[in-house]
Amino acid sequence: AASKPWAGRFSEPTDAFVEAFTASVGFDQRLYREDIAGSVAHARMLARQGILSDEESEAIVAGLGRIQAQIEAGGFAWSVPLEDVHMNIEAALTAEIGEAGKRLHTGRSRNDQVATDIRLWLRNEIDAISEALQRLQDALLDLAEREAATILPGFTHLQVAQPITFGHHMMAWQAMLERDAGRFADCRARMNQMPLGAAALAGTSYPIDRAYTAELLGFDAPCENSLDAVSDRDFAIEFVAAASILMMHLSRFAEELILWTSAQFAFIELSDSFCTGSSIMPQKKNPDVPELIRGKTGRIFGHLMALLTLMKGQPLAYNKDNQEDKEPLFDTADNLRGSLKVFAEMMAKLRCKPERMREAASQGFSTATDLADYLVLKGIAFRDAHEIVGKAVAYGIQEGRDLAQLSLDELRRFSPAIGSDVFDVLSLDGSVAARDHIGGTAPAQVHAAIARARSRRAST
Ligand code: ARG
Repeated sequence: AASKPWAGRFSEPTDAFVEAFTASVGFDQRLYREDIAGSVAHARMLARQGILSDEESEAIVAGLGRIQAQIEAGGFAWSVPLEDVHMNIEAALTAEIGEAGKRLHTGRSRNDQVATDIRLWLRNEIDAISEALQRLQDALLDLAEREAATILPGFTHLQVAQPITFGHHMMAWQAMLERDAGRFADCRARMNQMPLGAAALAGTSYPIDRAYTAELLGFDAPCENSLDAVSDRDFAIEFVAAASILMMHLSRFAEELILWTSAQFAFIELSDSFCTGSSIMPQKKNPDVPELIRGKTGRIFGHLMALLTLMKGQPLAYNKDNQEDKEPLFDTADNLRGSLKVFAEMMAKLRCKPERMREAASQGFSTATDLADYLVLKGIAFRDAHEIVGKAVAYGIQEGRDLAQLSLDELRRFSPAIGSDVFDVLSLDGSVAARDHIGGTAPAQVHAAIARARSRRAST
């Protein structure tokens, strides 16, 4: 077995199973790039402060560069006895450059090292996720623009409520995703403080310059408190919480798409390239992609609970428990990125069936509220108007006809205040066009909302 950097005070070798049990290199090797970037910045700072010589620092930086190339070429032999990505790379560096490699860890601990690596890694992930989220929003904005005037029934309790426009419906999801993007941006801003210099927990006795290292690594500042820096993982929890809220939105949205592709709704058609068939039923075209996104939401909620529970019992400062933060984080980021990517592509290829949506909106008395509002305009109190329209609806149900299909004479039986202008308000287009204020479903308002969303996007 490779000799352990901490072997000095031990007289017995590590139990073979314990060695494998405590190792994290199987998954944290994924942090190699951030680990090397952190080491390069640390070495440069040490040389600038006169703690290392320039030659030593240059040898370290060059050696780490060669190791990175070796890892990326797939030629690096990761060692389980060397436990984690940090000790693997440090051992390889010493093998590569000799004495200077042993000086890299001056004024540093794996505790501040790993806390830095994760933040660097998560910062990149958040940037990629924000981009993917933006692409999904763009797809929704384009779809909303194309279908700004397409009418479908709006639902409450999954019962037909009032006619709305498809563009307005898409913009509801866009609004939620825009808040999700804000949550990731907030999380990134709070996270972007550098743990390096905290060392094991108390700081270090070397004359380090934390502000310089932070600047080299693109952090806004060094963490204020060394104990906090090495021990808290609230930033990881915050990230997975933002991811969970986003997945909750995607899951609801996916659920609608699944319903809408069913023969009973038939409001939309997903591209064949995003669906699969059945091995037994030849007619099937299944909405697997939205179903899988709905399903993946569960594991991400699970990761949130895992991280909260991981932290809740830990006294200050670093504890080995924290090694368990990585797999939930990696899995969250991977599945979130995949879900966003496939969702954006699926939405770009989605086809509406406007005739079917209109037909569904014209059933279920979706303009009953418009008739009540019409009666109020004619001087009737809303509660009385509600009662009058309720009776007209009961009559329509009995006759098997919608309100707009009743004759003026039939309608006037419920109120003499009804005139021939009533048919304007009973029409689906009249109903949506009437909701013409900020946040309303009128096509003109959908276009205005799209324009505002695009200008907010341009200004961020
Ligand atoms: N692999 C460890 C982790 O992921 C690195 C830090 C270990 N530090 C220690 N003192 N054991 O947290």
